[in-house]
Amino acid sequence: MRYNFDNPVSRQGTSSVKYDRREEVFGKEDIIPMWVADMDFCPPPSVTEAIRNRAGHEILGYSVRRQEYYDSIIRWHRQRYNWDINPGSILFSPGVVPALNIATLAFTKPGDSIIVQPPVYFPFFTAVTDHGRRLATNRLMFSDGRYRFNNERLREECRNGAKMLFLSNPHNPVGRVWTRDELLGIAEICIEYGVIIISDEIHCDLVLTGHRHTPVATLSEEIAGSTITCVAPSKTFNLAGMATSSIIIDNSGLRTRFASLIDSLHITNGNIFGTEASIAAYSEGEEWLEQLIQYLEGNIDYVTGFCSENLPVIKPVRPEATYLLWLDCREMGMTGSELNNFFVNRAGLGLNEGSTFGEGGEGFMRMNLATPLSTVKKAMNQLLAAFRDT
Ligand SMILES: Cc1ncc(COP(=O)(O)O)c(C=O)c1O
Repeated sequence: MRYNFDNPVSRQGTSSVKYDRREEVFGKEDIIPMWVADMDFCPPPSVTEAIRNRAGHEILGYSVRRQEYYDSIIRWHRQRYNWDINPGSILFSPGVVPALNIATLAFTKPGDSIIVQPPVYFPFFTAVTDHGRRLATNRLMFSDGRYRFNNERLREECRNGAKMLFLSNPHNPVGRVWTRDELLGIAEICIEYGVIIISDEIHCDLVLTGHRHTPVATLSEEIAGSTITCVAPSKTFNLAGMATSSIIIDNSGLRTRFASLIDSLHITNGNIFGTEASIAAYSEGEEWLEQLIQYLEGNIDYVTGFCSENLPVIKPVRPEATYLLWLDCREMGMTGSELNNFFVNRAGLGLNEGSTFGEGGEGFMRMNLATPLSTVKKAMNQLLAAFRDT
């Protein structure tokens, strides 16, 4: 079956953060929204059908997640990543961001340090600071167009007593798919100092051609024992509104601490449609996903080619995963707010401004390319016109 990603679908007025908060966030509504990380594509038809089928029953009382829900998660990760998840280690969370916050509360004390590696998805920072914990910053190194971990600095922070590391694997916003060796390098340092690894793998299924995702928990039994992994069908199949994700914790001591906190908050009921959507996506969504990735690669190629031909002052960092393109705009010589103003008010585009991702983000913009190619083309032409007007 061929899936169509070309059809623009109107999302305005559907309670969409990306569309319906434009006025509030950018000060105007007539911009192309290329910010929040969700897609302008319908999910696989099997997912929509599963939701419709369940809605057809009409009674929407309290629900349980049946065995098929867990089996589909286990099968998906075994087939794609050779990861044998123990059924007993899967916990439910209404989202990955809530899970990061729960991990902070469950595994650290006020005043403890938690390591983050910016530029990185900004809720990593608030999951630390909102709870009176301290940020230990290990900025990624950037050279020759490629981001790398700074293992020396990581070791220093571990030696200084950090308790936990928030890892984005693959990394939002820089698009790296960390290699097995890179992951082993940081995991071994964490193990040496007893630092717990929270591996946010929400983007793992959106790995682009030529790259391979490695779940941190597959590196070794010892590493799995101090890793908490967050996965979800939400980015992969565009189901963020379903608020359904899984937290995988092999170590029974850590799992009990996490589970008792999340249970005490009474937030594990989940929602009935999220369960059906997750089962259908993981069981029947693979072919759709393969085609989606090809489509996203086409969009990434288009923008990369467009910049090198028409806007060489903007240098996209080639992503290895995700539909988020990290644009190096430093040659434009603008501050973050000037850049944002240029994109919003001159080009009519709503992107994420780089400095919101922390140290190393200044001078960059994050562009969401999960939208029909016709919209991407329109956006790039608006950007070019804005440059010509200056
Ligand atoms: C790295 C990363 N983690 C988590 C999330 C959001 O997770 P959730 O919606 O499940 O809270 C995002 C969304 O953009 C993300 O990029």
